[in-house]
Amino acid sequence: MKGKVIVTGGAGFIGSHIVDALIDNEYDVVVVDNLVTGSKDNLNAKARFYQVDITHERMAKVFEKEKPDFVVHHAAQINVRQSLAQPVYDAIQNIIGTIEILELCRDYKVKKMIYAGSGGACYGEPQYLPCDEKHPANPVSHYGVSKYSAEHYLFLYKHLYDMDYIVLRYSNVYGPRQDPKGEAGVISIFLDKIKNNERPHIFGDGNQTRDYVFVKDVARANLLALENQTQSRAFNIGTGKETSVNQLFEMIKQSTGTDLSAAHIAAVPGEVRRISLKCDLAKQELGWGPEIGIEDGIRMTSEWFIKKQDND
Ligand SMILES: NC(=O)c1ccc[n+]([C@@H]2O[C@H](COP(=O)([O-])OP(=O)(O)OC[C@H]3O[C@@H](n4cnc5c(N)ncnc54)[C@H](O)[C@@H]3O)[C@@H](O)[C@H]2O)c1
Repeated sequence: MKGKVIVTGGAGFIGSHIVDALIDNEYDVVVVDNLVTGSKDNLNAKARFYQVDITHERMAKVFEKEKPDFVVHHAAQINVRQSLAQPVYDAIQNIIGTIEILELCRDYKVKKMIYAGSGGACYGEPQYLPCDEKHPANPVSHYGVSKYSAEHYLFLYKHLYDMDYIVLRYSNVYGPRQDPKGEAGVISIFLDKIKNNERPHIFGDGNQTRDYVFVKDVARANLLALENQTQSRAFNIGTGKETSVNQLFEMIKQSTGTDLSAAHIAAVPGEVRRISLKCDLAKQELGWGPEIGIEDGIRMTSEWFIKKQDND
């Protein structure tokens, strides 16, 4: 074994793909998840699972028992609209929850923490595109503020206690296992609607753009971040390409062969108009770049949805 890793949020969409990648690469993996949005169906049978909330005192017992070498921190409140409706809850999960984990990392001398940041939410309305890591961070939602605030604590724990970290600021991640009942994950939401022969909704005019990165590329970025000896800092993880929601819907129509049209409904506050992430630094320092193009990614996600439907 290469080392022991606790993955918080490891029963969720992105976390579970990271768990699979770690296990394939001979790590001993421990999953901590309260299953608020995650599912036991996503759990890798080779990982040990603790159904615990990251803000609960039982977390200390997990660290005491497992004594991890590394922590990959993905448990979070991930819903932008919920963050606007319940900002205190969002801050407890995303800021206080991260501090609780950092304190345990400090107590148990964890060598490095990998943190799931949000490149889609931390920069706010872009001053230029694609945004690099030096772009000013002016989040326009409580979620964006809480996810970005937690980054400062990682910096602080490196400064005060020399605890290594890497922040991976994801763009819009998509792929198999993304929950279509959530608010993020427009690709899953569209595919799920089409599967049920329902018209998908597009917020606003549909010309808003996002940078879509496939989940297996994101899992590989986590592995590289864990293994690479690069200095503690934040890296963008995306493709640098903008795709509008209208373009995306056309691609999904092509891929699935549906003749359903989308219904346009009111735009949502707290969401940026355009975003894409420049990822040159991740290429230089981590040797990471996206490998799965959006057409292939949509096809693989669509195939997973069809297979899941057959199994349900
Ligand atoms: N999906 C994206 O496009 C995207 C983009 C940027 C950043 N992120 C970040 O990536 C991480 C994973 O997101 P995801 O899309 O896989 O969402 P997800 O909801 O599938 O995963 C989050 C997981 O954390 C668990 N969880 C939540 N609160 C918890 C708590 N208090 N204690 C223990 N477990 C808890 C949930 O049950 C779930 O399994 C999050 O930190 C999110 O902010 C996601």
